[in-house]
Amino acid sequence: MSEVVYLSGRFLPYGQAAVPVEDRGFLFGDGIYEVFRVYRGRPFRFQDHLERLTRSAREIRLDLPDLDWAAITGELLERNGLKGGDATVYLQVTRGAAAPRTHWFPPPGTPATVLMLARPARPVDPELVESGATAITHPDERWGRCDIKSINLLPNVLAKQRAVEAGAHEALFVRDGVVLEGASSNLFAVLDGRLVTYPRGPRILAGVTRGVVLELARELGIPVVEGPILVSDLDRATELFITSTTAEILPVVRVDGRPIGDGRPGPVTRALYTAFRQQIS
Ligand SMILES: Cc1ncc(COP(=O)(O)O)c(C=O)c1O
Repeated sequence: MSEVVYLSGRFLPYGQAAVPVEDRGFLFGDGIYEVFRVYRGRPFRFQDHLERLTRSAREIRLDLPDLDWAAITGELLERNGLKGGDATVYLQVTRGAAAPRTHWFPPPGTPATVLMLARPARPVDPELVESGATAITHPDERWGRCDIKSINLLPNVLAKQRAVEAGAHEALFVRDGVVLEGASSNLFAVLDGRLVTYPRGPRILAGVTRGVVLELARELGIPVVEGPILVSDLDRATELFITSTTAEILPVVRVDGRPIGDGRPGPVTRALYTAFRQQIS
């Protein structure tokens, strides 16, 4: 079965889906996106993702088309033979295409470009969850609105490439001595028996998985602090993990080559991981 893509109102074979050369996503990175998982046919935390998409659109003053996202998702899954299965869906909306190229907004009425892709999910290797991943620290060179899920990801791309070159799984952004989040994930540490993650605000993306983990921690009676994780805290953190839609909950056992705690995934991470698996099964 060949892949089918949703593009601005049409379901098209992958090879026939194309956007104009002057699409503002291509020229300016003028757009927003979401990634969500589908577990056994059911989009996970769909409402949370749609709310974040709506918020991102509002913050960049993009008129989000009034579409039936659930119906489109259902049809896209079906057309790709993923109905009832595990999938990852990518959704992107740009401010559309207009000529000539201008930095300012295109003329009113220029339709947004909407792209959706659905692919079979690539689950995280259970052995990696068992042994734990590694990370590097990297200066946070991003803009001041990291709460917007913008398709402008150049600093994230550059940081992630550094991580790959260092043989690590993630790059952790550091600003003013604080480890904020990963290049494509949120960060949690266990410090003094408490679960710590950076508070919502313009410095991080409010991850949907982050929200789920906070809920689960409260249900499990794990004390939670939304506050800074300092670079110097990494030496005394007993556990560290990252969260994202695609990585779910992934223990981090080394940062910049130095072990976190005893260098193995710890009990808080395991408890949250087990609770998370129950939520999605
Ligand atoms: C910078 C950044 N932070 C956090 C996340 C995690 O967000 P979510 O759990 O909604 O996937 C992502 C996901 O791509 C991200 O790019």
